[in-house]
Amino acid sequence: MNQLPFAFDLLPATFIPSQYDNHIKRGLSSMKGQFSEQQEYAISLEKEDTLLYEVFEIKVPEKAGELMHGITVLHPGAVGQEYFMTKGHFHEELETAEVYYCLDGEGCMVMETPEGEWAVEMLYPGRVLYVPPRWAHRSVNTGGRDLVMFFLYPANAGHDYGTIERQGFRKLVMKGEDGMQITDNPRWNPAEKVND
Ligand SMILES: [Fe+2]
Repeated sequence: MNQLPFAFDLLPATFIPSQYDNHIKRGLSSMKGQFSEQQEYAISLEKEDTLLYEVFEIKVPEKAGELMHGITVLHPGAVGQEYFMTKGHFHEELETAEVYYCLDGEGCMVMETPEGEWAVEMLYPGRVLYVPPRWAHRSVNTGGRDLVMFFLYPANAGHDYGTIERQGFRKLVMKGEDGMQITDNPRWNPAEKVND
């Protein structure tokens, strides 16, 4: 069955949709092995399973032609020197794209293809980001307040988290002396890269 028309409000006070079907919360415990400073991660997690980010999904049928959309709220913070970030994923249907519209906060999107190409794009209020088909994506909060993004992608895209869970992204976003710093991820498998 196709989705019937609907509308909702997305207002600057909170940017939480006036209606949603799914509220996903991901804490530190869901990011095992993802932060480069493993000892810092273990110490933080022992103290508290801090909430890293929340996704408010407006569900539509998961089939081609429909568009899944919602809001991601990524909270500020860091594990050691590495900023809070989302799990990151490829789309299961690799040939599907995604659009992000940044509503509040500051950060960036780390992206890469299965062939090892990589890109980092800055996010700030009013910024629109196009993630082309084949590009895995992870958002990172480099600021001091919530990073809030509206997202939109084909409803049949699906999520492949496994590849990223195994080796992370090729690039890490760390706290540097003058703000954020992009560094190489030592865990990333160079055997899979075709260009540098
Ligand atoms: Fe996505």
